[in-house]
Formats: sequence, C-alpha cells, structure tokens
Amino acid sequence: MSGVVLPGATIGVLGSGQLGRMFAIAARRMGYRVHTFSPDTDTPTGQVADVEIQADYADLDAVRGFARDVAVMTFEFENVPAATAEAAAAETPVRPAGSVLHTSQHRLREKTFLTQAGFPVTGFAQVRSLDELRAGLAVLGCPAVLKTAGWGYDGKGQVKITRPEDASAAFATLGTAEGILEAWVPFEREVSVVAARGMDGSFVHYGVIANAHENHILDLSTAPAAVPDRVAREAVEIARGVLDGLGVVGVLCVEMFLRHDGSLLVNELAPRPHNSGHLTVDACVTSQFEQQLRAICGLPLGSTEHLRPSAMANLLGDLWAGGEPDWAAACAYPDVKVHLYGKLVPRPDRKMGHLTALGRSAAEAQAQVRAARAALSKRTP
Ligand SMILES: Nc1ncnc2c1ncn2[C@@H]1O[C@H](COP(=O)(O)OP(=O)(O)O)[C@@H](O)[C@H]1O
Ligand SMILES: [Mg+2]
Repeated sequence: MSGVVLPGATIGVLGSGQLGRMFAIAARRMGYRVHTFSPDTDTPTGQVADVEIQADYADLDAVRGFARDVAVMTFEFENVPAATAEAAAAETPVRPAGSVLHTSQHRLREKTFLTQAGFPVTGFAQVRSLDELRAGLAVLGCPAVLKTAGWGYDGKGQVKITRPEDASAAFATLGTAEGILEAWVPFEREVSVVAARGMDGSFVHYGVIANAHENHILDLSTAPAAVPDRVAREAVEIARGVLDGLGVVGVLCVEMFLRHDGSLLVNELAPRPHNSGHLTVDACVTSQFEQQLRAICGLPLGSTEHLRPSAMANLLGDLWAGGEPDWAAACAYPDVKVHLYGKLVPRPDRKMGHLTALGRSAAEAQAQVRAARAALSKRTP
C-alpha cells in the first residue's frame, strides 16, 4: 500500500497535551520519532518527544517548516485553525484530514453533519442574537443548554437555561461568540465508542464505555459498559457510520446519551483518542494511541480485545489542594496503574493524570479505582 509510514520515520503531532504524550509514548515504543508543535514549552508531549517546537498555530511558516520535517502529521488538539491544517497538508500527509477537524471543532457544523447523515441528535438551534436564543427556547423548551459553537471543552463555554426569563443573562455569557442552543437530554447514562478507521477503510472499535461526569468533566469511565446487546450494537453502528461518513483515518470517539427508553443520541465527536479511551492503554491488546499511530501510518489495525474489565478515574488539579497526593497509597493497589501527564501547575479542574484499575468485573474495577483515588488524598495526621 502506498503512503505507508514505517518505524524509524518521524511523526508530527500538532498540540502538546496528555493525548499527544500518550501517543508519543506509543509511537516511540514502536521505534518512531515524534515531533510536537504548540505555543508552549516543557509540555506533556514535549517532555517525551524527540523535538518540541514552540510556535503559534497561526504562524503558517512555522507550521510548514514543522510539516516538512515529518513523514505524516496528526493532531491531539482539534481547535487548530483550518488554515493551519491546510498549510501543513501542502507539505505532508495530515491524518485525519483537515476536513474532519473542520466539521468536529464547531458544534453547529458537527450537529448539522450528524443530522444530514441521519444520526440521532438532540434538538438544536443556531444562536447569534438574543432574539435567536428566545426563538430557540420557544421551540426547544426548557431546560436547554447554551454552548459556544467553537472552542469548548470540559464544559467550558456552557450554560444551562432552566427558565425562559434567564435567556438574556445566558446570552450575555456568550460574549461575541456564536452559540448553539441544545434541548436538555434527561439521560440514563452517558456512553462512548472509541473507534479507528484505517487508510484501507478497515474499522475497529473498543465496544461501549460508560462515562460519569462531575461538573461537566469526565470523572469515571468503565468498560465494558453494562448495556443491553441491542444498545451496544446500535452504538457501534453509529460509530462506524460516523467514521465512514467523515472518511476518518485515525481514531475518533463518539460521545452519546443513552436515554431511559433505551434509545441513543449522539452528543459530540472527538476526532482523536479520547479521555474515555485511556483505559485501553492498560486493558486492551492495542491502546487507542497505538491504534491512532497504526491508522495514520497505514499499518494494519491492532486487536481491540479487552484483556480484563477496567475502570479509569481522572485526577484533577483539585486533588493537590492539600499537598502532593500520596502516590504510594495508590500503588498499594496492585491492579491499579498510575498515569501522570507531567503538568507543572495543578490548577483546579485541570486534568493532571488518571488511574486505571483492572478487575474480574467492571464493578470490581470501578470499586478499586475509586478506592485508590480516595487513598491519594487520605493523609495520616
Ligand atoms: N444537551 C445536553 N443535555 C444533557 N446534558 C448535557 C447536554 N450537553 C452537555 N451535557 C453535559 O455536559 C457534558 C459536557 O458537554 P459536551 O457537549 O460533551 O462538551 P465538552 O465535552 O466539549 O465540554 C456532557 O458530557 C453532559 O454530561
Ligand atoms: Mg464532551
């Protein structure tokens, strides 16, 4: 197959957070070199990459120079300007393509694509003015959630509207940003499917993962999710359709709501490895990061088999409030793995690391990971 990038070659990663770090670790394990590009230095990815370039995403000369030095480029941060992906693509293959970024980095474009392709989503409306917000609320009802169309993550740029009279206060939080209003989904559970598509169109997935959020931030993921077979099949078919529909080469995660009647709605897409897939690093034959590498390099995709049930708990900066967490206490759980991202400043809500537990059942893994996380901040007086 043409376009195959073999070990020894250099992979470029746009963005430099924990996703790039775990990708770089997987790539270096297989003998690739990794270059990373972002506006920062001493980053989670830069710390484990061969080369760390510090430049602005809008500095297209720097982007071109970076792209010329790598055999293939991918990204771990999807909010890069379209011009950045285009400039890079003129120099080297970019996988997944900039068009995938373009669709998934903007909630309105994303939901429009999903609707037109026949995937189920909650009702939504474009909001560029207070009048449009009021009109949207009249159609969608309350509660609803107003989100910035671009740039949101971890619940940032979102406000829930429970009464129509709160419209103007909610609109004010948007500032000048374009917004999207979504009907609130009273879900039974949140689930995700992390999947990969190769250059030859091959498709693999990690099954359904159950996700619990705290303050709009992912808190706990468990695999496999305890959902009926019919729901699992439907969720995987949605993922397959999305990756095919977008022509993804790489990993993409579909976040979904499972409603009380057993039906699924797509919440959003992430065109890259996803926080809910971190448990694949310890629990699966091939991690989501190695899968991303294989896909963008044109290699055959690896087995997604789960060796044991697993659960992942995020470690946010809040955990540092009383001093350095007690890492040895977590390591005292022999089936728990500690992952830290090398971030220097533990701000509240900042994802600093995660724990993964393996168990004989998903429930046992979840109990272990919760206990290990609690042990981190239980200090002896
Ligand atoms: N329309 C909605 N109905 C119910 N809950 C929602 C809705 N939109 C977002 N949420 C909650 O907020 C979380 C974060 O929102 P999401 O749209 O996934 O943004 P992001 O993850 O980019 O911050 C979701 O996982 C879910 O828990
Ligand atoms: Mg989300």
